[in-house]
Amino acid sequence: MKKKIAPSILSADFAHLADEIQAVAAAGADYIHIDVMDGHFVPNITIGPLVVEAVRRVTNLPLDVHLMIEEPDRYLKAFVHAGANIISVHPEACRHLQRTLQTIRDRGVTPAVALNPATPLCVLDHVLDDVDMILLMTVNPGFGGQSFIPSMLPKIKRLKTLLVKAGKKIPIEVDGGIAVNTIQKVAAAGADIFVAGSGIFTTADYKKTIRHMRQLITP
Ligand code: DX5
Ligand code: ZN
Repeated sequence: MKKKIAPSILSADFAHLADEIQAVAAAGADYIHIDVMDGHFVPNITIGPLVVEAVRRVTNLPLDVHLMIEEPDRYLKAFVHAGANIISVHPEACRHLQRTLQTIRDRGVTPAVALNPATPLCVLDHVLDDVDMILLMTVNPGFGGQSFIPSMLPKIKRLKTLLVKAGKKIPIEVDGGIAVNTIQKVAAAGADIFVAGSGIFTTADYKKTIRHMRQLITP
């Protein structure tokens, strides 16, 4: 599976969002990761469909929309219309997780489940046929710039083993505290898609940073 880098715009300069997106696209980003927070599921409030739609107009890269919101079903249609290509939902926020994932797939978008650090992998047991990506949070969701939680490395390894055993080629995305100092061990543990917010946007040269990250994850 080709490893992918997904800059999270949470750490971008929102006063110059179009420039920031074009800069990471030119620097070699594979996806644009968009963190949607509602002030309920997580303490922070960020982006709604309106901004996703605006981002859609300035890039052709796949938009990886991470919903950290309660009852995401209420907003799926809006985010699909806004141009999302991947939608991740947290199981704690969905009363009927399988139905939510099916709805996302029926709308032609890639369905994904996002697991908080303390959420066990067994939540995935009965939805493996319904997901095309699994997002493992490597920090508690809510804010950019937090430190990577090292105990997530064995969790990534366990998920990788579980997927291999099940014969599933579902990519594992990691999100939180991913930067040049952590990305190598996360890749070695089995991750395929690397979300990085502060690890890219706080650096001076996005191209250099993404190139460095890619070197570190290329076996
Ligand atoms: C955290 C978000 C992340 C965040 C990561 O709740 O889901 O996508 O932007 O930020 P960094 O890479 O700075 O940890
Ligand atoms: Zn995210």
